[in-house]
Amino acid sequence: MLQDQKVVIIGGSSGIGLETAKQAIALGAEVIIASRSKDKLQSAQEHLGPRAKAFQLDTTDESQVQSFFEKVGRFDHLVVSAAETSGGSFLQTDTAQARHLFENKFWGQYYAAKYGAAQISPNGSITLFSGVVAYKAMIGSSALGAVNAAVSNLGQTLALELAPIRVNIVSPGIIDTPSRSKMPEDARSSFYTTIAGKLPVKRVGTAEDVAQSVLYLIQNGFVTGTVLHVEGGHLLT
Ligand SMILES: NC(=O)c1ccc[n+]([C@@H]2O[C@H](COP(=O)([O-])OP(=O)(O)OC[C@H]3O[C@@H](n4cnc5c(N)ncnc54)[C@H](OP(=O)(O)O)[C@@H]3O)[C@@H](O)[C@H]2O)c1
Repeated sequence: MLQDQKVVIIGGSSGIGLETAKQAIALGAEVIIASRSKDKLQSAQEHLGPRAKAFQLDTTDESQVQSFFEKVGRFDHLVVSAAETSGGSFLQTDTAQARHLFENKFWGQYYAAKYGAAQISPNGSITLFSGVVAYKAMIGSSALGAVNAAVSNLGQTLALELAPIRVNIVSPGIIDTPSRSKMPEDARSSFYTTIAGKLPVKRVGTAEDVAQSVLYLIQNGFVTGTVLHVEGGHLLT
């Protein structure tokens, strides 16, 4: 249970972060969600109810991240699911797009861990987000794979440096969330069908699948430095 625990979820206005907020609240936690878009935050807060507070934050801005944690004060668990991802052929993708992935997903999580750590209780935890393309090379994911691998390595090193705060990493497989809302519906649904056909579990993942894993990492005081793969057997294919 998470009674009297405060959980900060950066990226909590959508997808896996929003579902993690919902499940944490159901376990008794107070939740703070943060992301860039006022509209997404407002609708997430309406969905989550009075045990959730929302803050506007862009994790690519180091000084914003620092002042966010000063405002939040002491808390117990940090989850950083914030990310904007993209892919494309290595030779045809602008270097700027690859750099943007690092700015957003790597440096965003780095700043959050750096400035969040000072406010986290010694029994608390940090959960960072990697992803399957760090562990299974896929065409079109050169930069994203590198970002995810960097996040996993950062998290494991922080599990040593920030101890006794526990630091773990979730590595989702292909999960049906709003992260692919810009893809045309036909293309998205045929992508999901193809992936599902290849996986031992014969389906893509849901935000609920991954949120359950985050809640496990938050609550199990004997788990730190772990990369938890939640991918329906994708690495076996
Ligand atoms: N879905 C998948 O198939 C999949 C696969 C592998 C790994 N993952 C990883 O799982 C994590 C969660 O993904 P998801 O599918 O839940 O994505 P999502 O539904 O798109 O949610 C991403 C969240 O991050 C926020 N965000 C993005 N950039 C931000 C920034 N610079 N500062 C603050 N907030 C920011 C977004 O809100 P705003 O737009 O309001 O900022 C949104 O709340 C990510 O790390 C993703 O890479 C997902």
